[in-house]
Amino acid sequence: MKALSIAIIGCGKAASRHLKIYNQIEWVNVMAVADEVEEKARAFAEEAEAEAFANWQDMLERHPEVNVVDISVPSGLHAEIGLPIMKKFKKHILMEKPIALLLDEAEELVKTAEELNLKLVTIYQNRFNLPIKLVRNALNAGWLGNPILVSARFYWCRHQSYYDSSPWRGTWAYDGGVLAQQGAHHMDMLCWLGGEVESVYAQMATRLAEIEAEDILVGVVKFKNGALGTVEATTCARPSDIGAELTILGEKGHARVGGFAMNELISIASEERDFPNEEIEAFKKNPEDPLGYSHRAYIEAALRYFAGEEPDEKLCIGKDALSSVQLIQALYESAERGEPVKLPFSPQKSKLGRR
Ligand SMILES: NC(=O)c1ccc[n+]([C@@H]2O[C@H](COP(=O)([O-])OP(=O)(O)OC[C@H]3O[C@@H](n4cnc5c(N)ncnc54)[C@H](O)[C@@H]3O)[C@@H](O)[C@H]2O)c1
Repeated sequence: MKALSIAIIGCGKAASRHLKIYNQIEWVNVMAVADEVEEKARAFAEEAEAEAFANWQDMLERHPEVNVVDISVPSGLHAEIGLPIMKKFKKHILMEKPIALLLDEAEELVKTAEELNLKLVTIYQNRFNLPIKLVRNALNAGWLGNPILVSARFYWCRHQSYYDSSPWRGTWAYDGGVLAQQGAHHMDMLCWLGGEVESVYAQMATRLAEIEAEDILVGVVKFKNGALGTVEATTCARPSDIGAELTILGEKGHARVGGFAMNELISIASEERDFPNEEIEAFKKNPEDPLGYSHRAYIEAALRYFAGEEPDEKLCIGKDALSSVQLIQALYESAERGEPVKLPFSPQKSKLGRR
């Protein structure tokens, strides 16, 4: 495997999870880390045995040997930082989700990567969850038939202390609320498994958290293939997390995945095919992992792609990240307008990503 030199921008929660993974892969070397809060960069650099920078441009000037930049800054900064990393420094990017808050920013990132022949991978680790793999195989093989209902709901708990832990959390400019932040994964799943979205309708509210954006959003989604779906997204579950579910009903079968983060199979069945016990057992549940379900598998697959291997088809590469950004923006636009929104649309009222 070709050795990779990595630089990390943003030394917070997500990056520290990534660092633990990088440290376990011998052909990966974290050369340098940057955080605008210098003490955070220094503490992180010590753990990474890398050089610390307060300014990421200085870091990349000083380390031209870096192949891949890991962008783990607040979501509203992904495009602002990602574009010069490609345009000026010509680096591949491993981008934390979502690729950007606004569709036009996301499209510019994708276009730039394509024009410069650079690799741009967005982290949607749930795509590698074992039950999700089984569901996708079943859908692709036609065992469930054409989708009729594709729904996602998650009831998670985030107390005020979570929102207060970083100043950008829950702001429209840099994060959005539960839909854009936690729900990015579930919206990726709806688009990835359900197909293109035709229209949406949503309502949202801010009930328990003192933040600008919403902590509960409920929506209806119509897919171009005729399927309907619902979205229930909230961080208002009390006293603790309840779980996250994905339901697919097709013309010939169904699949339901639950657990904390779409990591446990509830049921799968088809009129066309039996699912043998060995298959169910093999895909039933993601093993416990302190780094989060599938995070390691996803990041390792991305690194292999950066190192020159053929990409795993489940990786979210380039334009594959656009549809969920558009879906999130459309649900917010609908909630703000108080009426259904047909895609494509130009955002007028959505506050997401606006400064
Ligand atoms: N894939 C997942 O499941 C997952 C989980 C958590 C977070 N995330 C994503 O990771 C990103 C970061 O989230 P987090 O929870 O780690 O946030 P965080 O607040 O813990 O960390 C972000 C860091 O970026 C730094 N930063 C801000 N602006 C900067 C700049 N201009 N230059 C350099 N550093 C800067 C901050 O000082 C902070 O240390 C977000 O986009 C979030 O959506 C993804």
